Amino acid sequence: MIIERLELKHFRNYESLDLDLSHGTNILFGNNAQGKTNILESLYVACTTKSHKKSKDREMIRFGSDEAHICLHLKKNDVPYKIDMHLRKSKKKSIAINGLPLHRASELMGIANVVFFSPEDLNIIKNGPAERRRFIDMELCQLDRMYLSDLTNYNKCLSQKNSLLKDIISDRRRSASLIDTLDIWDEQLLNYGSRVIRRREKFINELNEIIHIEHQRLTGNSGDFQIYYEPDSTAEDYAERLKNFREKELRYGTASVGPQRDDINFLLDGVDIRKFGSQGQQRTVSLALKLSEIELVKREIHEAPVLLLDDVLSELDSNRQKYLLDSIGEIQTVITCTGLDEFIRNRFEIDRVFYVENAKVTEQSKKGS
Ligand SMILES: Nc1ncnc2c1ncn2[C@@H]1O[C@H](COP(=O)(O)OP(=O)(O)O)[C@@H](O)[C@H]1O
Ligand SMILES: [Mg+2]
Repeated sequence: MIIERLELKHFRNYESLDLDLSHGTNILFGNNAQGKTNILESLYVACTTKSHKKSKDREMIRFGSDEAHICLHLKKNDVPYKIDMHLRKSKKKSIAINGLPLHRASELMGIANVVFFSPEDLNIIKNGPAERRRFIDMELCQLDRMYLSDLTNYNKCLSQKNSLLKDIISDRRRSASLIDTLDIWDEQLLNYGSRVIRRREKFINELNEIIHIEHQRLTGNSGDFQIYYEPDSTAEDYAERLKNFREKELRYGTASVGPQRDDINFLLDGVDIRKFGSQGQQRTVSLALKLSEIELVKREIHEAPVLLLDDVLSELDSNRQKYLLDSIGEIQTVITCTGLDEFIRNRFEIDRVFYVENAKVTEQSKKGS
C-alpha cells in the first residue's frame, strides 16, 4: 500500500496542508511542537479511524474551528482510493471512500494498513498488560473485520454485564430476574469472547514464528526467544470459569473473567522478560515485536503496510538504529525527527525531506548518502 497524498484542513495546528509523499522514505524534520507528529497522527486516523494517542475527535480539530478534514489518496494493489474523513465537534465523524459515504466508521478498517512506532512503544514490554492487549487489538482490527466486530460486541456486552453486576450489588435482594439477565450476558460474552481468544491465539502464534528470527538478527545471538499468549481463559475452559467466578463477580461487582485480562508473555531462555529483562533487552524485544508486526501484515494481506516512525530513531543506540533502517527496505515510510544526523551517519537513502515549522511544510533538497 502506498499513501500518495495527504490534504488537511483545520487538523490540529494545520490550517491547511497539501503534501505529496514519495513511495519510499519520507522525512519530516524540525524543532519540537511544530506539527510533525500531527501529520503522522492524521495519517493514522485516516487509516484506522482512531488516534494513536487515543485523542478524541474534537481534540484533533484546530482550536477555534468546528470541523477538521483529512483527505488521503492511496493506492492498494495499484487500485486508487480516496479517503475523506470529517471530524466534527459534537457529532460522529463522517467518512467517504471514493466519494461514497460509509454507514459506519468501522467499514474503513482493512482498506489501509499502517504500523505506528513511537518511543512509547519501546516500553510495551515493561508496561502493563493493557498496552499489550492494545497492540494486539490495533493490529488485528486492521487485519480482520470479523475480529473487529467480535471485539466490539464483546466490549459492549462486557460493559452491560458490569453495570448489571453493580445493579445487583445495590439491590440486596438479588432478584432472580437480574441474575437470569446475567446468564444471558455471560452467554453472549462466551460467544464473542471465545472467537476473540481463538483469533488472538492464532495471531500470537504467527508472530512467534517471525519474532524469534527478528530477535536473533537484532542481537546476533541464538538464545531461545519465544512469545506466548497468556489468555485469562482459554476457549475451552472459559464457560466453566464464568460459572466458577460468578460468586466472586457478584461480590466485587466487576466481570473478572475473559479476554479483557489477557496478556502476552516474552521468554528469553525461559526467563520472563516483562519482569526480569534489562531495559536494553526489553527495548530490543519491543523493536523486534514492531518489525514482526510489519512482516505479519505482509504475510496476511500480501502487501506491505505504511510505516510511521515518530521520533523513534533518537531513542535507539546506533546498532539498533542501523538495524531498524536496514529493515525498512522497500516499505513506504514516514519518519519524524528533529535532525538528519542519524540518516547521514547510517548512510541511509532518503527519498523526500520536508522541513516542518509552525505548521508549514517545505520540501528540502534531498539529503543522505
Ligand atoms: N487541536 C489543536 N489545534 C491547534 N493546535 C494544536 C491542536 N492540538 C495540538 N496543537 C499544537 O500542535 C503542536 C504540537 O504538534 P506536534 O505535531 O506534536 O509537534 P512535533 O513537531 O513536536 O511532533 C503544539 O504546538 C500544539 O499546541
Ligand atoms: Mg512529535
